[in-house]
Amino acid sequence: MPLWAGRFKKELDSKTNDFNSSIKFDKRMYKQDIQGSIAHATMLGNQKIIDASESEKIIKSLKEILVDLENGNLEIDRNAEDIHMFVESELTNRIGATGKRLHTARSRNDQVAVDIRLYLRDEAYEIISLLKELIEVIIRKAAENTKTIMPGYTHLQRAQPITFAHHMMAYAEMFMRDIDRMKDVIKRMNVNPLGSCALAGTTHNINRELTSELLGFDSPCNNSLDGVSDRDFVLEMASTLSIIMVHMSRFSEEIILWCSWEFKFVELDDAFSTGSSIMPQKKNPDITELIRGKSGRVFGHLTGLLTMMKGQPLAYNKDMQEDKEAIFDSIDNTKMCIYTFIPMLDTMKVIKENMENAAKKGFINATDCADYLVKKGLPFREAYKITGTIVAYAIDNNKTLDTLSLEEYKQYSSLFDKDIYDAIDLINCVNLRTSFGGPAPSIVEKHIEMLKEKLNNI
Ligand code: ARG
Repeated sequence: MPLWAGRFKKELDSKTNDFNSSIKFDKRMYKQDIQGSIAHATMLGNQKIIDASESEKIIKSLKEILVDLENGNLEIDRNAEDIHMFVESELTNRIGATGKRLHTARSRNDQVAVDIRLYLRDEAYEIISLLKELIEVIIRKAAENTKTIMPGYTHLQRAQPITFAHHMMAYAEMFMRDIDRMKDVIKRMNVNPLGSCALAGTTHNINRELTSELLGFDSPCNNSLDGVSDRDFVLEMASTLSIIMVHMSRFSEEIILWCSWEFKFVELDDAFSTGSSIMPQKKNPDITELIRGKSGRVFGHLTGLLTMMKGQPLAYNKDMQEDKEAIFDSIDNTKMCIYTFIPMLDTMKVIKENMENAAKKGFINATDCADYLVKKGLPFREAYKITGTIVAYAIDNNKTLDTLSLEEYKQYSSLFDKDIYDAIDLINCVNLRTSFGGPAPSIVEKHIEMLKEKLNNI
């Protein structure tokens, strides 16, 4: 019979039991459940709600259960309703009546809220350290390519010259924001619901500050109803994971494009590419495609969780049991994606010549030509128009801006002189873009140093 037997005359129908049970997926929180129970038992003993000797006995047995679970001497019973029920009945099996005192001034409602917060907090820290590792690789790639000129794109059309380092550092910034967001999630997650009990607190003289301290929470939550019905931190985490996956997916999409023969800006290491079963020449960027694809399920879980929460009256409702599979799957997949991406990026070969050759085409120095005229005194709009006409002429005559003669330039404006060639030289175009945040090597080098420093302080 389940722990809640008493009011009931029959056992739960077996199919209904399967439907109702969460053990298959919440068993992964066994450590956090035991950790929470140890803190609770310590507090009960401290406050003399149970005898000190009983508290000690409970704690000792809980620690043994943890060891037995970790080294495989104890298996989690798949028929238990959930991990909380399992640990409690195992405790009672081991120490009898004393075990039954553990649930004093506690409910599974605050228990599950504690467990999930502790579990997600650990995962959040792990994701932060994975992101850190990823940013380190990005920075390394950037440092090797501060002078590798490539076209910067808008609308996937060649736009203006940048460097591969500048492009990489944009991703470094995105993932830095993800770290920041994750830290923020931890901040609001790190509040202790234990002591909210079922929903309305308790008449026992509990000490919520003590359990907060023991479990590393910043403080107890201020309202017991909120304590058991708040899953905002799950939503925030799902949303942060979704944004990470947006970034991973955009990065993947670019690598997929760059691997194509049309671009050939990079080549992935054989260890991170796959072949085709029929086409012998193929080398496919499957990993990046899978990451792009997996972003879908992570976004899906966010929508699922928001929808699951939105209609629930306060306080606890069983709907909330649905939070776990969703957030666990989002975490597992996001972690796997970052984990695989890191060595793939690290070993990715950058084909500098192809980037530079692409930069030479597409008139990406046209803005610099217009800026040249502006610096000679022309209003930008006029300079823009003249340059546009020159580009059209060059296209018609199969030329580029650097192969036009000075005479040809002068047909469009008498302001043109020999120094136009310096102004539209790609290396100069990049080197002179020294505005803060720009692609000039001197600026990107400073950015790299700044980010390294920031990373060290995370
Ligand atoms: N397995 C449940 C969950 O994940 C634990 C809380 C159950 N509480 C209850 N009153 N049925 O939400």
